[in-house]
Amino acid sequence: MNTCIVGLQWGDEGKGKIVDMLSDTADMVVRYSGGANAGHTVVRNSSEKSFALHLLPSGILREDVTCLITNGVVLDPEIILQEIAGLKERGIDAFKTLRISGRAHMVMEYHKKQDRLNEASLGKAKIGTTARGIGPCYGDKVARTTALRVADFLDMDTMAEKLQYIVGIKNKIFSALYNDTAPLDYKEIYENCKVWGEAIRPIITDTTALLHKSWQAGKSMLFEGAQGTMLDLDHGTFPFVTSSNSSAVGLAAATGLPAAAVERFVGVAKAYSTRVGAGPFPTEQDNETGNYIREKGHEFGTTTGRPRRCGWFDAVAVDYAIRIGGINEIALQHMDTLSGLKELKLCTAYKYKGEKLDFFPAEAVVLKDVECEYEIMEGFDGNLRSIKQYSQLPGAARKYVERLEEVLATPITMVGIGPGRDQTLMR
Ligand code: GDP
Ligand code: IMO
Ligand code: MG
Repeated sequence: MNTCIVGLQWGDEGKGKIVDMLSDTADMVVRYSGGANAGHTVVRNSSEKSFALHLLPSGILREDVTCLITNGVVLDPEIILQEIAGLKERGIDAFKTLRISGRAHMVMEYHKKQDRLNEASLGKAKIGTTARGIGPCYGDKVARTTALRVADFLDMDTMAEKLQYIVGIKNKIFSALYNDTAPLDYKEIYENCKVWGEAIRPIITDTTALLHKSWQAGKSMLFEGAQGTMLDLDHGTFPFVTSSNSSAVGLAAATGLPAAAVERFVGVAKAYSTRVGAGPFPTEQDNETGNYIREKGHEFGTTTGRPRRCGWFDAVAVDYAIRIGGINEIALQHMDTLSGLKELKLCTAYKYKGEKLDFFPAEAVVLKDVECEYEIMEGFDGNLRSIKQYSQLPGAARKYVERLEEVLATPITMVGIGPGRDQTLMR
């Protein structure tokens, strides 16, 4: 059976933890979208430091699992090689199991610079990106003539020509648009590329072909989404989104496998909501409740360290994400974080200008002005982290989970009670 794990909110739902857990029975884990803007945390056991993965698939900690990075990803060679070196220090040889698509586009220094300059020039209107060069790189992919793909490492002479041309254009843009006076040096970038190329060349693979062969052979494939549905370029809260299809709809284009190859779509959601960066967030609690959740749930970005904005569970947004993604089951994370709150609020409807909306609004300008209708539920107390069975959860916690399941009309098959591999209750 092939499974896709996808975020149902604004990212950081705990996808890394679920992928790591489910990868014990997978032959292959496939990262198919986004780039080093992602930060997926895996806690193998509580006695060791957690792993923060940005580009490497969360199956990389298992020796017997093949890990792919497909065409839909924007690959920062510098960051992935740093990540691989970090794993090596901890005894994991990622080169043994990792394969990278030659069709994946490459994030270069000038993309990160463009991201920073663009955000700075926007002032209050900025998106609050991760500054990882994601938008500029996907922009170049669409523009084509200023793009570099991983396969360009296979012919370094042609790459040198392309790079010289691109850096020339970028320097003109930076100087004209942002008054930038520190032009990038093509030679320095090319020298770096030579080193990166040496390292990455041996693992460049036609991942589309490999995926089709694996599908035919009946292998078990796990697809690891990055970001979340509400950050999807087409279906999220545009323009406060990332630059790829980070909902489940992105899978086919980003891998070359038809969506029909995947039978199981697991949506990951937190028992509350978080968001990093700017953009509308109807259930946001910029108050004591939000602070409580942030501190208890350690809600600080895995990639940028920024404090995450926190709020109540938004069933209108998650219901929309379930519909967009054809989600068949939900992994609900961070139930332990809600413990200690006297009451819990669940947003079940939006009103706009006094009228109840019957679907999630398409426009950020509408979303920023919606009023949330809340159901109030009893809170629960106690340390949930060592609980082994769902039935041992406090009654009010089970009621909350079961009410969510009812409102979302989708089974909640996993309930997270801590960051560890063994802290997911299966139902
Ligand atoms: P991802 O981007 O979706 O992989 O999620 P992140 O790793 O960025 O953020 C999720 C954070 O929550 C990480 O620090 C996880 O270790 C942690 N986490 C995941 N599930 C649970 C849970 O059920 N309870 C608690 N307390 N932490 C969790
Ligand atoms: P994971 O995979 C949370 C957010 C940024 C910003 C917007 C655009 O860990 O869930 P970008 O750098 O992509 O151009 O930023 O998207 N964002 C994320 N938020 N988790 C992520 O990834 C994110 N990746 C991007 O904060 O608001
Ligand atoms: Mg994250």
